[in-house]
Amino acid sequence: MKQGIRDIVAQMTLQEKCAFVCGLDKWHTEPIERLGIPSIMMTDGPHGLRKIVEDGHTVQATCFPAGAGLASSWNRDLIKRVGAAIGEEAQAEEISIVLGPAANIKRSPLCGRNFEYLSEDPYLTGEMAKSHIQGVQSQNVGTSLKHFCANNQETMRMRVDEIIDERALREIYLAGFETAVKEAAPATVMCSYNSVNGTPLACNKRFLTDVLREEWGFDGFVVSDWGAIKQRAECVAAGLDLEMPGTKGTFNDEIEAAVLNGTLPESKLDEAVEHILSFVLDAAKAQKKGASYSKEEHDRFAREAAAECMVLLKNEDELLPFNSSDTIAVIGAFAETPRFQGGGSSHIQPNKVTSLLDALKEQGRRFTYSKGFSLESDELDEALAAEALDAARKAGIALVMAGLPAHYESEGYDRVHMQLPPNQNKLIARLCAEGVRVAVVLSNGSPVELPWADWVDSILEAYLGGQASGAALADLLYGEANPSGRLAETFPMRLQDNPSYLNFPGAQNRVEYRESVFVGYRYYEKKELGVRFPFGHGLSYTSFAYETLRVSKERMNERDLLSVSVTVRNTGKRSGQEVVQLYIAAPDVQA
Ligand code: BGC
Repeated sequence: MKQGIRDIVAQMTLQEKCAFVCGLDKWHTEPIERLGIPSIMMTDGPHGLRKIVEDGHTVQATCFPAGAGLASSWNRDLIKRVGAAIGEEAQAEEISIVLGPAANIKRSPLCGRNFEYLSEDPYLTGEMAKSHIQGVQSQNVGTSLKHFCANNQETMRMRVDEIIDERALREIYLAGFETAVKEAAPATVMCSYNSVNGTPLACNKRFLTDVLREEWGFDGFVVSDWGAIKQRAECVAAGLDLEMPGTKGTFNDEIEAAVLNGTLPESKLDEAVEHILSFVLDAAKAQKKGASYSKEEHDRFAREAAAECMVLLKNEDELLPFNSSDTIAVIGAFAETPRFQGGGSSHIQPNKVTSLLDALKEQGRRFTYSKGFSLESDELDEALAAEALDAARKAGIALVMAGLPAHYESEGYDRVHMQLPPNQNKLIARLCAEGVRVAVVLSNGSPVELPWADWVDSILEAYLGGQASGAALADLLYGEANPSGRLAETFPMRLQDNPSYLNFPGAQNRVEYRESVFVGYRYYEKKELGVRFPFGHGLSYTSFAYETLRVSKERMNERDLLSVSVTVRNTGKRSGQEVVQLYIAAPDVQA
């Protein structure tokens, strides 16, 4: 095959090669009809397909839970199945690459894209990203592991220079990418907009060639984040293969001139062409003619996945699950208008949306509904609040659908605080003062401060659960499903406690990662700092006993390989899943 690819490249003119390493338009690669090279299409993901067609409209697809939720399942098989379902939809829409997963580390809870990202922990990030890639690629559809690397903030994202020490890079910011590249071989890797230690990723030879290809053995192609390229020839030399979106030849002359004047060896351009061409030719063969998928089945699966992603944070005196004989006062506009996905390039057009109210009606539950607060304003609306308080007093149990309105968090900007809108906090405090039992469901992409956490009975973190989140919530609230998600990130008491607080988002196009490897729980634990809910936390409706923990040692390649096993027994009355977490540390290292 390699030789075959080289033979084709040998037949290409310099101009054709320069054109081929640049996209045709926003979503396609350049075809070369003379040589029988087709054009392939890529679209955004990562939690569903965002195929935008020529007239600008987005084709409908199944919206699965966003990354923050998916990672809270800690379930490799689930994520693989989600990936496979997205791959099936990609086949049906003749898409060759789905742009994702997004494997950046959650350095600060403020990052506007945290909803898409997986975890503050590099091991969990790597395992989840790997599983997503394996799932999508099992359908012969490529992925694009993004954004390589350290795209951990949206403020100044196109130009910020991130100053990161080598140990933090290796142990935190590169580690998840390393696992995903080595163990799942993504078809492509997308470089990020930012610079690391002085060099933009798009022309960063150290990351794109030395680390990615030479150390980790990556053999797909590197694509630029959309519009990340500034010096085109320098980027080719550094190991950037495909420029996206197409710039209608803007940079072709620059590459050609660099080859002709000897500053860019033609062999480097040939390598970029070979990397892209190997994929394009395979992708054309991998396309399944007439592929289709069942929308109903995918919606059912989206519901199952969403239920696995939600995390029960608190459940005093087992208020949850509700009894079917209880009448519940459902309060909060999110019950009617669910917030189930994030804003920006991952925003898809769902083929169905089930709100909590739809699901409760369908399941024949006893409830009243009051809006409680407006999603458009942060001011408490006294009339709406009075109506909600009255409904709560009558029912004795209030279920508050709280969360972040869409404009609070999105790709393109970071949050500036970690609070819920004040009207929601005030309403919850007033409900607690009424002496009724209160359960709060949160719909948000990243942690929020919870000033009323000690006063309410139950808190269920639903994240952005995708199109079937309302149905999944109803399943969890009434015990049809058991909560088995665990936090993939810490909920600090307040923003000021976060280790990046003094150095986020930086200033004047520069940010220093002074906390080094002490990211997320590594910091809180070391400082013995109390947090609202720790990494790994999550309750269940059932209980588990851990029995017969065994550690066995075997010698492998001059290293000791330890295997740990434990028997987990469900000792409660309901079926459920448990996440076994094992934390290890080198005894003589500081972190
Ligand atoms: C985003 C990427 C996305 C691309 C294409 C960029 O702005 O950072 O995540 O895949 O646009 O929409």
